[in-house]
Amino acid sequence: MEERRIALLGATGSIGRQALEVIAANPELSVCALSSHSQPLDALAAEHGVERVQVGGDLTDLLEASAPDLVLNAVVGFAGVGATLWALEHGVTLALANKESLVAAGDLAIAAWKRGGGLLFPVDSEHSAVFQCLEGRASETIDSVVLTASGGPFRNHSRADLESVTVEEALAHPTWSMGPKITVDSATLANKGLELIEAHFLFDLPYERIEVVVHPTSVVHAFVRFRDGAAFAHLGYPDMRVPISFALTFPDRRPTAVPALDFSTGLTLEFEPPDPERFPLLPLAREAGERGGTYPCAFNAANEVAVAAFLDGKIGFLDIATLVEDALAGVDGTPARDLATLVEADADARRLAGGRLAAA
Ligand SMILES: NC(=O)c1ccc[n+]([C@@H]2O[C@H](COP(=O)([O-])OP(=O)(O)OC[C@H]3O[C@@H](n4cnc5c(N)ncnc54)[C@H](OP(=O)(O)O)[C@@H]3O)[C@@H](O)[C@H]2O)c1
Repeated sequence: MEERRIALLGATGSIGRQALEVIAANPELSVCALSSHSQPLDALAAEHGVERVQVGGDLTDLLEASAPDLVLNAVVGFAGVGATLWALEHGVTLALANKESLVAAGDLAIAAWKRGGGLLFPVDSEHSAVFQCLEGRASETIDSVVLTASGGPFRNHSRADLESVTVEEALAHPTWSMGPKITVDSATLANKGLELIEAHFLFDLPYERIEVVVHPTSVVHAFVRFRDGAAFAHLGYPDMRVPISFALTFPDRRPTAVPALDFSTGLTLEFEPPDPERFPLLPLAREAGERGGTYPCAFNAANEVAVAAFLDGKIGFLDIATLVEDALAGVDGTPARDLATLVEADADARRLAGGRLAAA
């Protein structure tokens, strides 16, 4: 493998720290830039010999200055859009954990990717799994894609139970250890909704050919059904170091610290359909995706506001979906022409959701 200088955006987060572990295990990988939002980076920079660090500010300035071979975008939320578009437009290899940027700016991102002509590796485990099952086969060979969802900590809760769940309970994910926003998104299934939209853009598939299935042990990350009747699955213990390493060391598939599947201790593979009544954010995301334009951007923005309010103890768990549904009903979903339109759509949806929040 040739040497790769990596710009690691969101270095202080759950993905960022696991990425540093993967980078340290592969001598050809080095870090040329680190970013965070508010946490200091001096210690990480010293430990990994990084020259350029940036706390807050415009991430594209850091990317311009550091001229990386690969950008790992592990920022959380809409704040990652600019960096995603920069990497795709410049043809710089992008390892994308920041799914929100592809949800909010999917049309623009795909157009920039085509112009830039670089590589795009999904870091989301389900999308990395689909990518690996596809091995570059054209989208017309695919019958459909199935994304698995653990179902989160409230998989067996009734709607009445969901009314009183706490932030602490929502943050106790049964299979994955992740940052707070995505952990709440996993509990509401909004995360799978975001992934549905992400898969639509990444794999150029219409929504009716992307299915979500609940699979509590998170051992199967995704299936691809092909048009000849064969289905491929990607299995492994739920550990993000596998998709991170795949993206950073492609096509080498370097060793990781993650053990191989062990059948001697037993393996449970159960699947069930998701329940739209208890987890309405999944069908809401599908609807936003199908409507297109700036609807997915608005879905994402309202969800970010609602999750932050839930984490702050301002609203209950079920209010997250209500807030997003109300905000979506108030936006016009204009076409996503350029970044300025998206920034405006994001701000509008945040204002709407914020207004509903204040009135609640
Ligand atoms: N964690 C997982 O296992 C996992 C799996 C699949 C996909 N993802 C996706 O990966 C992304 C990161 O998730 P995470 O769990 O690693 O999140 P996280 O632990 O909350 O870390 C987020 C990182 O982004 C930075 N950040 C926060 N707000 C920012 C802003 N406004 N501008 C620039 N940087 C900002 C944070 O900096 P500070 O520390 O300074 O706040 C931190 O470095 C998300 O899009 C998530 O959906 C995560």
